[in-house]
Amino acid sequence: MAIVMQTTPEQILKEVKSLPSVPGIAGKLLYMLNSADTSANQIENSLRQDPGLTTNVLKLANSSYFGFAARIGSIKQATVLLGFKRLIRIVMASCVNAVLNRPIPGYDLSPGELWRHSIAVSVAAEGLMKMLKLPDSDMVFTAALLHDVGKLVLGDYVSQSIDDIEKVAAEGGSFEKAVRQVIGTDHAEIGAMILKEWSFPDDLIKVARWHHSPDESEGKSAVLDVVHVANLVCMMMGIGSGREELRQEPSPLAIKRLGIKTKHIETIVSQTLQWMNELNNVFSSK
Ligand SMILES: [Fe+2]
Ligand SMILES: [Fe+2]
Repeated sequence: MAIVMQTTPEQILKEVKSLPSVPGIAGKLLYMLNSADTSANQIENSLRQDPGLTTNVLKLANSSYFGFAARIGSIKQATVLLGFKRLIRIVMASCVNAVLNRPIPGYDLSPGELWRHSIAVSVAAEGLMKMLKLPDSDMVFTAALLHDVGKLVLGDYVSQSIDDIEKVAAEGGSFEKAVRQVIGTDHAEIGAMILKEWSFPDDLIKVARWHHSPDESEGKSAVLDVVHVANLVCMMMGIGSGREELRQEPSPLAIKRLGIKTKHIETIVSQTLQWMNELNNVFSSK
């Protein structure tokens, strides 16, 4: 099988600069929300610079997924009533909605499909963390939300070389392995580079980098293992599977490390669609 082109990840990374400027405020807020001395006023002031974002954050704060019993009318109120941890998830979902909504032809993802897949993996991962009684990790929702961000950039390259990639994939192995063989990198590696470029925390970068191969990551992390499993559960359910990952099995070691039983997967499968729709309705009712 002839290898047509080998592009370096660095060459592809140049494209990252041309991505929409979503993360500017997202990265800043992520650090603000993680810092102990951030006040509700500071968060409100940052969000005020982006009225569209404020609207989405308030809609999400009042959605049934994140919902609080009382009606939340301002960012300050949201910060006080929901707490910083829940607010992180809400802000991140609002920030990345537009960028993840784009179609990704190389991966056969229609408009909105990567977004639906990303929020499905987020709610499934969060659900798994709770069910497995793992120490509450503030990062799991956001890490899951961004795990496939590399597809935004790599999609065009996959599209250009799709015939060669499919020929390699037909010989066996996963679609992404074929992508790596033909293009010289994959969406996990590019995703990690994007998040690094956006100055996002290392925990998030690690999840994007190793979500398909958690056993290869240095130092194990429950968040990484959970996102790995949640991703494959959502693929199995046909949520944003596109061309990728259909032949992948979850790592037996990750399953063992987490102590996942069939009943956990069954519960996640039965709940994920409802959770995903609760979040998605907020964005589709603009
Ligand atoms: Fe992926
Ligand atoms: Fe994925």
